[in-house]
Amino acid sequence: MMSAVHPVPVITIDGPTASGKGTIAARVAGALGWHLLDSGALYRLTALKAMGSGVLLDDEAGLARCAAHLKPQFIGETVLLDGAEVTLAIRAEPVGQAASRVAVYPQLRTALLQLQRDFAQAPGLVADGRDMGTVVFPEAALKVFLTASVVSRAQRRHKQLIDKGFSANIDDLLKDLEQRDSRDMSRAVAPLKPAEGALVLDSTSLSIDDTVTRVVQAAQERGVV
Ligand code: C5P
Repeated sequence: MMSAVHPVPVITIDGPTASGKGTIAARVAGALGWHLLDSGALYRLTALKAMGSGVLLDDEAGLARCAAHLKPQFIGETVLLDGAEVTLAIRAEPVGQAASRVAVYPQLRTALLQLQRDFAQAPGLVADGRDMGTVVFPEAALKVFLTASVVSRAQRRHKQLIDKGFSANIDDLLKDLEQRDSRDMSRAVAPLKPAEGALVLDSTSLSIDDTVTRVVQAAQERGVV
């Protein structure tokens, strides 16, 4: 087991909604044989739990209690909340919007901190989110900030939703992304921004393979792997 002197190596991948972080983080984790943290899923799960238990989305203390008692299970691609499968339910747009609304509350963010840090297990962790490099894993060995133009992100999100069987409209998605970006970037606590020293990658015209290669190469150059 690794000691505190040799902490588990962490690669953080932060960026705006639909920048491809989820896909890239999963592929990098797969390439390295490391664990994966999809921190957005924890915010989505908290929102879903609140919505299902009558907690209002502006009740900070109630939301923090939902987060503190969150016992999600991630089994491969499957996500369980309190024993029920919610893999698809947490991907619906209203849940994403609700997640971004509840994510502004400091008490809720604090309640999720330890749960997120517990994902750092040997041999390593790839953590995907908005504040992985700035707040949750400030000591990460490699920090990546992944971005892409808002139009290409709307197109990607549209394809993702259609592939999952949800209906979606590009113009609505574009508006939704802009709204969510501005909320994520302007909130007082843990706003979305590149961490100091982050490798900033614009994936607008990069393929998934090229983006994964850039991240793995950066990890090799920094001696992380
Ligand atoms: O990445 P995903 O779209 O699943 O995240 C849902 C919402 O959760 C985001 O819009 C953001 O507001 C919030 N979030 C956050 N911090 C993270 C991950 C997600 O505030 N580390």
